[in-house]
Amino acid sequence: MLVILKRDAEAVSLQAAELVASHIRRKPALVLGLATGSTMIDIYQQLVRLHREGTLDFSQVVTFNLDEYLGLAPAHPQSFHHFMHEHFFAHINIHPRSIHIPDGTIHENYDQYCASYEQAIRDAGGIDIQLLGIGRNGHIGFNEPTSSIASRTRLKVLSKETLADNSKSFSPGEKHPQCAITMGIGSILGARKVLLIATGAAKAAAVAKSIEGPITSAVSASALQLHPDVTFIVDEPAASQLTQRDYYVRVMEMTALLTPDRLS
Ligand code: F6R
Repeated sequence: MLVILKRDAEAVSLQAAELVASHIRRKPALVLGLATGSTMIDIYQQLVRLHREGTLDFSQVVTFNLDEYLGLAPAHPQSFHHFMHEHFFAHINIHPRSIHIPDGTIHENYDQYCASYEQAIRDAGGIDIQLLGIGRNGHIGFNEPTSSIASRTRLKVLSKETLADNSKSFSPGEKHPQCAITMGIGSILGARKVLLIATGAAKAAAVAKSIEGPITSAVSASALQLHPDVTFIVDEPAASQLTQRDYYVRVMEMTALLTPDRLS
């Protein structure tokens, strides 16, 4: 596990985008796992900038999003389909058929649909890099606390904390989705490389529990300790409850000297 500490959210986004970009340059047909949420917006902006500058080509990239609210059509302004097009896909040269986002409009045969999403990931050769944000309750994707570490794509009931965090996005009086379709923790652990991004003090407790706490279904992101190639990129406020910060800094310095590819 590599923990990259950055001064602020801007530096975090830049490093995350540069890391993803260098992997796409090395493997143009990269299979990229994507997340939504406010943390991701700046990263997508940086990737769009690199594309506009002519240094990043998405024409062969294939993407799989982690999750989508159940009951929201792609055109709904709060759907993750809408988010992804607004912040990312509309501004890059990705082929529409290479974009995969769980379908929030299904209303039967959920297990069959979720199994077909997993199959599509396998058919694409598996996810090369999975981008993740983290919820205040430690969720990754919509794997709420007590999600099985072996879980695969499935229907998930959202926790009260997540509903409260997400309610800001919905208009007052609007019915909020109570459920989502999300890739599971097992699906995420199947990616070749995992990149978790966290910024802001509200994430500090979840970050510390995930990196330094026990592996527990009470904190879904703690399962990432089982992954052989996971990098956390966090800003100062999000890192504020980590107890081993000096060690992470020394590891970063040695990594830059010995295995710089892991940082770029
Ligand atoms: C959404 C997702 C979620 C978010 C998390 C953090 O696709 O995967 O796990 O990454 O809720 O959201 P923000 O960045 O809005 O704090």
